[in-house]
Amino acid sequence: MFDKNFMKIKSVLFISIFFTGISVVHAQTKITINTNSNAAPISKTMYGIFFEDINFGADGGLYSELVKNRGFEFPESAVMGWTRLAPGESRGSLSIRTEEPFEKANPHYMHIEVRDPGSNGFGINNEGFRGMGLRKGETYLFSIYANAPMEVMSFKIELISSDGKVIGQAAIDNVTKGWKHYSAEIVPTETDAKATFNLLGTKVGLLDVDMVSLFPKESAVKLMGRDVPGLRIDLVQMLADMKPGFLRFPGGCIVEGRDLGNRYQWKNTIGDINQRQTIIGRWNTEFGHRLTPDYYQSFGLGFFEYFMLCEQIGAEPMPIINCGMACQFNTCELVPMDELGPYVQDAIDLIEFANAPANSKWGKIRADMGHPESFNMKMIGIGNEQWGSQYIERYKFFAEAIKDGYPYIQLIAATGSDATIFPNGQAEIEYLWSQWRELRPEYVDEHFYRRPEWFIENTGFYDEYDRKGPKLFVGEYAAQSGGVANPDNRNNWKCALYEAAFITGMERNADLVRMTCYAPLFGHEEAWQWRPDMIWFDNLNVYGSANYYVQKLFSLNPGTNLLKAHVNDAPNLNDKTKALSVSSTFDNEKDEVIIKVTNVSAKAIKTNIELQGITKAGPQMEVITLNSSSLTNENSIKDPKNIYPAENTIALSSPSFSFDFAPYSFTILRVPVEK
Ligand code: AHR
Repeated sequence: MFDKNFMKIKSVLFISIFFTGISVVHAQTKITINTNSNAAPISKTMYGIFFEDINFGADGGLYSELVKNRGFEFPESAVMGWTRLAPGESRGSLSIRTEEPFEKANPHYMHIEVRDPGSNGFGINNEGFRGMGLRKGETYLFSIYANAPMEVMSFKIELISSDGKVIGQAAIDNVTKGWKHYSAEIVPTETDAKATFNLLGTKVGLLDVDMVSLFPKESAVKLMGRDVPGLRIDLVQMLADMKPGFLRFPGGCIVEGRDLGNRYQWKNTIGDINQRQTIIGRWNTEFGHRLTPDYYQSFGLGFFEYFMLCEQIGAEPMPIINCGMACQFNTCELVPMDELGPYVQDAIDLIEFANAPANSKWGKIRADMGHPESFNMKMIGIGNEQWGSQYIERYKFFAEAIKDGYPYIQLIAATGSDATIFPNGQAEIEYLWSQWRELRPEYVDEHFYRRPEWFIENTGFYDEYDRKGPKLFVGEYAAQSGGVANPDNRNNWKCALYEAAFITGMERNADLVRMTCYAPLFGHEEAWQWRPDMIWFDNLNVYGSANYYVQKLFSLNPGTNLLKAHVNDAPNLNDKTKALSVSSTFDNEKDEVIIKVTNVSAKAIKTNIELQGITKAGPQMEVITLNSSSLTNENSIKDPKNIYPAENTIALSSPSFSFDFAPYSFTILRVPVEK
């Protein structure tokens, strides 16, 4: 169940101090768990992942292509990412051409005329995504489409370290007339997070090049026995380690696009990679304070790869589709109702692509891509952060068509964005809820981007929610230490701990709240637009934020059934804030009571815990603690495990026992029991 290697015993001293009083003491605070109250099952999809291509999440991130603008197809500038290289006395010229490309859908290519190769060649350099992360001794796959329109041509490729040394090279000596695919393997002699890549013609002549590509040879292939082409292993591993219940993709506002032309169109992201057309990433200039003009979507990571990733990490696929509305924070462009047909057809075709037999039209496309089996997709989100009557009108159109042909598909409907950040938010949300109670999508998606205090003050947010309406999908949430999308936001312990307290509240309402995920998922240290983010990375490293470990611990310890937990005589921090937040579940497979407790006070809190309805507990319990001495602490590339779960076991002989919860801590107790 639990990966023992995951835990570091970092607080042996602390544990010995706090765990010595395990015999019954007269603690002031009492936590009572009623195990006879075995109630709502915890949804298998309770804890999932939200993926969006923001902050270099896909290109430059999860998608492990190292060459930026490999196809010379960035719409604003076909040469973005590339520079001319004329070392020493070499001479030549470069031009972008479109006549007779190797692939019509990928029309631009680089034409290199070498007039004098000198001693080092003439050609181009690619800067990568804020450099290229290369590891000494690992194999990298170079591949290219090339054409020598006149004489046979030769060229070399060089991997260049950040201090200018050649740390790997290969030569291709036989490029002939007509577009052909060439490839080579290169093993760098040094590790460098900011390497670049040269392509140099080495004799006089003409050379056309396209889809210039460099991948780590091992890219997620060996991770879980099935091949997901071109994903960064270390990032995938972080996701797999969470054992997520679902993966929501491809976002976020990216689904909607700033305008409809810029919306996410899944059909353009499948099939032959050479035919997937690059578009501008909608986050490139969204925030004036974090301009990222080189942010594009190559769709090397497309819908097929997302489905494969879901399979690899054992997550239910949760695609979100555009519902004929562009982002309502941007253009609000709307598809007229009488032109909505193709959008609905896209949704229907997606279900077919994911689930239909391999001999059907869309099933065959999936099978030809290497996956004849169904992806067994069970749910779909209609629109992202949509609101207003126009949304309801469009939702109905989609819902009728989907339910008509595919009644088993569960629908997810939106409630706009966070009520505090879109115009008239609260009223809009109430209007949408009144509609959803009638229309009955299986799930309604709510988003919370609020100050950390809101999360701790609202652990009871779902306590009074209507039990007769649709179930809840809390599809985006994250505590914002400085304000929504504020560039000074931090993934600090305060945000993570207060989120943990809020999650205990969602878990206590697990009969209603069936799916939850933190957002956004990834942030590139140098190329982010939005923070906080759950997982941070650069070109070589990755680390989980404190928020990641909170999510992971909930996800790895969900239990199977909700138990009723009561806390008596707990200290309050203030009128609105309890120091302790508690949720409890039962694990039917292991016969364990799981107790999750956050202590947001600066002091340890002594408790007496009583497991009602249990005759025998022990002989030991597992204690997992995530804590930090200061609420401003955080993890970083240099100190990735500053805030990291510690695991311990302690002896236990009774279903009533004392336990001291450490200051600023999130603790999980797993208690083996007999009823
Ligand atoms: O998570 C970042 C953005 O926040 C998402 O794209 C959007 O849905 C929300 O407004």
